[in-house]
Amino acid sequence: MARFPKALPTLILTAAVLTVRAPAAELTNPADEARINALVAQMTVEEKVGQLNQLASDTLTGPGRIVSDGEALIKKGSVGSLFNAVKATETNAFQKEAVEDSRLHIPILFGYDVIHGFTTLFPIPLGLSSSWDPSLVEQTSRFAAEEASAQGVRWTFSPMVDIARDPRWGRITEGAGEDPYLGSAFARAYVRGYQGSRLDDPSSIVACAKHFVGYGAVEGGREYNSTEISERTLRDVYLPPFQAAVDEGAGTLMAAFNAVNGVPSSANYFTLTTVLRDEWNFQGLVGSDWTAIREIVLHGIADDENVAARKAFMAGVDMDMQSTVYLAQLPSLVSSGRVPMARLDEAVRRVLRVKFALGLFEHPYVPVPAGLSPAEKARGLELARHAAEESFILLENRPVKGSPLLPLRPSAGMRVALIGPLADDGVDMLGSWTGIADARSVVTLKTSLSKRAELGEFALTVAGGTDVGGMKDDGFARAAEVARQSDVVILALGESGHSSGEASARAHIELPGNQERLLEKIVATGTPVVLVVFSGRPLSIPWASRHVPAILQAWFPGLQAGPALARVLFGEASPSGRLTVSVPRSVGEIPVYYNHLNTGRPRTDAQVPDTNPTDSYYVTGYIDEKDGPLYPFGYGLGYTSFKYSDVAVDTSWLSAAALNRDNTHLNVSATVQNTGSREGTDVAQLYIRLRGTSVARPIRELKGFKRLHLGPGESRKVEFTLGRDELSFWNIDMKHVAEPGTLFVWVASDCTQGSPARVEIRD
Ligand code: BGC
Repeated sequence: MARFPKALPTLILTAAVLTVRAPAAELTNPADEARINALVAQMTVEEKVGQLNQLASDTLTGPGRIVSDGEALIKKGSVGSLFNAVKATETNAFQKEAVEDSRLHIPILFGYDVIHGFTTLFPIPLGLSSSWDPSLVEQTSRFAAEEASAQGVRWTFSPMVDIARDPRWGRITEGAGEDPYLGSAFARAYVRGYQGSRLDDPSSIVACAKHFVGYGAVEGGREYNSTEISERTLRDVYLPPFQAAVDEGAGTLMAAFNAVNGVPSSANYFTLTTVLRDEWNFQGLVGSDWTAIREIVLHGIADDENVAARKAFMAGVDMDMQSTVYLAQLPSLVSSGRVPMARLDEAVRRVLRVKFALGLFEHPYVPVPAGLSPAEKARGLELARHAAEESFILLENRPVKGSPLLPLRPSAGMRVALIGPLADDGVDMLGSWTGIADARSVVTLKTSLSKRAELGEFALTVAGGTDVGGMKDDGFARAAEVARQSDVVILALGESGHSSGEASARAHIELPGNQERLLEKIVATGTPVVLVVFSGRPLSIPWASRHVPAILQAWFPGLQAGPALARVLFGEASPSGRLTVSVPRSVGEIPVYYNHLNTGRPRTDAQVPDTNPTDSYYVTGYIDEKDGPLYPFGYGLGYTSFKYSDVAVDTSWLSAAALNRDNTHLNVSATVQNTGSREGTDVAQLYIRLRGTSVARPIRELKGFKRLHLGPGESRKVEFTLGRDELSFWNIDMKHVAEPGTLFVWVASDCTQGSPARVEIRD
């Protein structure tokens, strides 16, 4: 196929100047600003509004069409952005209409939900975060950018940086868990990966931090629900990952669906303008979520779409995704003076700024045929396997006949049973937001184990047992028989890939359908069981945690599920993932998260809080449930063990005033030793607690982490610093400052471990 003709109109060519672009963090540069001004000066109100209109491509031309003549709309200059066009031939064809047939030849910005890969699917974001390895996410998102950009997609609606403390909420699967510090580190990594060092590199795509803001706090975990978040919690917990994305240069943000304290996020001046623009100086573009502007009417703060458009626009949403409300309402709002022209120009500038920064005016088309070379695709698969291995969390590994059940030590005579509804399902392995991946290219656990069995490594028998969500039990008897005839059972249970994600809240977060019963039946055979849990959220599995010797949390691992699992189960790779969310014992204790406040009557306060405030770790108690999560934040086992010692701080006191001037910090160190006989990776986690402050602070807060790969017996010193950024918080006067008080510092392997060093913070 021939390369698409590149016919840039003279107007644009003369305006084009070769500039040396600053890194992606710099969205604005003087040459672009001059070009933007020149263009805006020529635009009619309708053309300006057109730039703020974003539509899904199939609603222009496809069966789901919502406009009568999509092509005419593009040619009129009324489509600033299209999304869901995912093939180079499609994007080029739409682009041709905009660039060659519209009056001002402004290219379209093509978007898509590139969430955990485009064609090559990596583990779900929650799984990726379990690696505690932002550099890994930088690589996976870079790879996704290369695949997507090759098809003309230059804008991803990712990363989702919503903090989520409620696993009932289906979209917990799309984020990095419950912690703002870790979430911020991952937010930065995604932005770096997508945007690269230069946005105008044709393989870079612009990131979109979403959903701004507080979406993860929906009441009851119910999708699209309202949120009540105090300003302090908003600033301490929900805003930091967005600020991190902005600081890293994210070009765009998406406003959320949820109302925060009664004000829909898409019409929230406080978050969209006061915080984002005035405090953070964000220069990029804010888009709405899907039809969210129209939904402002349903939220109840506008009687009609005209008011909804004005409220959203004046609050700071620049682009309207899919509701066409801006297209219909903004021209008259501007002509009647209810929306100032200056605000319209500002929004248009933001759209054009992103387009110029991406180099779309110079290179509106992508080469056809498009796609990565076989060698590059192979590199992607290798990365997908590696990422999956890093995302697995070993929750249990009890001894069977004297040694931990995992890793399995295969031998020709060993009889392995593979049982369960998720052993051979490619679709489920992808989780939600599957990009344009072909589920048939997923290598399942069954495929991988069968291959090994064919090579004579062990003997394999496979049985389904039941279905994923239903109550089938006609496979129970055979599954139990297969288990009885085997030396070990690998049991693949969990949720279906679409039980999490958007609009997939669950009130029950146990193993669905009949799976718990199947589990009990198989365990009752007495054959040792390795339970592999596939899920997009933490599942409550208290029975399994007591009765199953080995449990591996596998999330949805993506295309290379099988090879990654086989390598970890048979010890060619060690599990090193750590929880980024607390796993509840039961739904009734949700929300359960590690960085909560103490109460005046903590459940187990017989201790000496001065020396070990963590003794009062879990403050909330029930008369019918044990305290705390089933597995805590930061937790995960490996095939070796680690010991932490010599936790030391280099001073006994710090000055709050000096911290606030940013001219002092504290050095923290600890020794980590691999005390086992295998090499392995641990994540050293730095936690703090502040006491004596003007407002209560969480009983622990993550403020640093380091992955360490250590050989058997090897020791290493880890070092951290704590300065103004880590020790400041939103105080009683809503100032972000460090205050005098007592600081406790832990370096430990999860949020429940260790004993703290103590430092005084003086005036
Ligand atoms: C989701 C967004 C997504 C958008 C476009 C919405 O329903 O909330 O996260 O980016 O659709 O697909």
